[in-house]
Amino acid sequence: MTDHRDVMLPLSLQYIATRALLLLVIASAVSCSSLPPEDGIRVVSAEKRIDLTGPIVKVFLTLKVENAPTASEASRVLLAFTPTEFQHLSIVKATRAEGKRKKKAFVPLSVQASELATTAPDAPRLYSVLLSTPLKPGDATTLEVLYMLTHSLEPFPAEISQSESQLVYYRDSAVLLSPYHVLEQVTYIKMPSNRIESFTRVDPTTRAGSEVKYGTYSNQMPNSYLPVLVHYENNRPFAVVEELVRKVEISHWGNIQITEQYKLKHGGARHKGVFSRLEYQSRPSISGASSFKNLLARLPPRVHSVYYRDEIGNISSSHLRTDSHKSDLEIEPRYPLFGGWHCTFTIGYGLPLQDFVFESVDGRRYINLTFGCPLLDTVVDDLTVKVVLPEGSKNPEHVVPFVTEKHLETSYSYLDVVGRTTVVLKKKNVVGEHNVPFQVYYEFNPIFMLAEPLMLISAVLLFFVAFIAYLHMDLSIRKSS
Ligand SMILES: *[C@@H]1O[C@H](CO)[C@@H](O)[C@H](O)[C@H]1NC(C)=O
Ligand SMILES: *[C@@H]1O[C@H](CO)[C@@H](O)[C@H](O)[C@H]1NC(C)=O
Repeated sequence: MTDHRDVMLPLSLQYIATRALLLLVIASAVSCSSLPPEDGIRVVSAEKRIDLTGPIVKVFLTLKVENAPTASEASRVLLAFTPTEFQHLSIVKATRAEGKRKKKAFVPLSVQASELATTAPDAPRLYSVLLSTPLKPGDATTLEVLYMLTHSLEPFPAEISQSESQLVYYRDSAVLLSPYHVLEQVTYIKMPSNRIESFTRVDPTTRAGSEVKYGTYSNQMPNSYLPVLVHYENNRPFAVVEELVRKVEISHWGNIQITEQYKLKHGGARHKGVFSRLEYQSRPSISGASSFKNLLARLPPRVHSVYYRDEIGNISSSHLRTDSHKSDLEIEPRYPLFGGWHCTFTIGYGLPLQDFVFESVDGRRYINLTFGCPLLDTVVDDLTVKVVLPEGSKNPEHVVPFVTEKHLETSYSYLDVVGRTTVVLKKKNVVGEHNVPFQVYYEFNPIFMLAEPLMLISAVLLFFVAFIAYLHMDLSIRKSS
């Protein structure tokens, strides 16, 4: 294995690197020693694009990695995150460029939390990108990685009045945190507007409009970290769903009923002082710039019986637009939301059964719905999806393309005899990227379709029997008196 540690760094860079490396000295010692010795991977070039234009941080990495000629085949590439990033990490996706030039295609790869995760509290947390075909010694490949961080923009000042804009801090590193040697690297930070209050300089650093560029840096040692801080204006709605419970009830009589209970919060800088509706309405461009008054829920096509209500009752200010691909429900809470304000509400709708419930080849039934939250551009801190299967369903099995917590419950509704098996799936830190199809398979005996009508008939019969008995009783009393 070639040793690159003796390559000279430019002096200034070496100085900064040493300073910043103090942070991760222990960390690197631990994680380096846990790297398998046969791993000959190094990053030939890395480009990191950080998109800070919304409330969720999106990071796109393009990594050209190379396996050393003397090493053995590599089956995975590691990604490193600081413990803070790891806490806020919502999703990590990776693809690999395959084929040359015009035939180039990006093949999705699976990403897992690495078993090499170190136990030291401030050590970087590792993720493995599993390569579809191993990287042979001396070969290179290009990976595209996307990851998202939630709750990573810190409002500063933490409290603002109605007429002020929202400013936030974002912290990251000018160089890529990586367990590998990085030969060449640039980082771009994209902000929503030209209003950038300040940013750390780590030469070479350049700013062009709303974008700051760090680098090009060369020859970064494994686990290098150069902290940077940007302070900028971000007035995009910081809509946070602290809790969402989605209940999906399947009835084989032709309908799927969905009920969604939201606990919503404005997660931005807290509102200070009194709220003036007059000022808000007369000067909408500058008053309450970071507040929001409506939200868009993207529902499936062919929804029916849509309602939107809160604890007071129905809210009529919602608009539904449907086309053949989707239904857009625009909802407007009773008051605009400012930083720190909450509101709770419920959305309900029905869906045609034949659009979402199918029979699989093995004879089981399955429902195929979209996971995640229908509200666009929101973070869901705590999501619960409950799929209430028809009465008499057995052996449910869920297929979700990421890790979720799962348990079973029994729900009862009127006319139920044995109750309904309910699959409860839970996930924290959910973003729009989690809105992907998921399935719940179950065994269903059609004889159970008769359970409800039979219950109804028996109830009616029972009523008649009781009624007749009552009449008889009545007569006998009259006779004896
Ligand atoms: C609320 O709206 C739903 C659906 O439009 C309707 O069925 C229900 O009667 C309404 N309730 C009230 C209290 O207005
Ligand atoms: C589920 O639905 C999506 C489209 O909404 C489709 O692409 C996918 O193949 C379906 N999955 C199954 C297992 O039927």
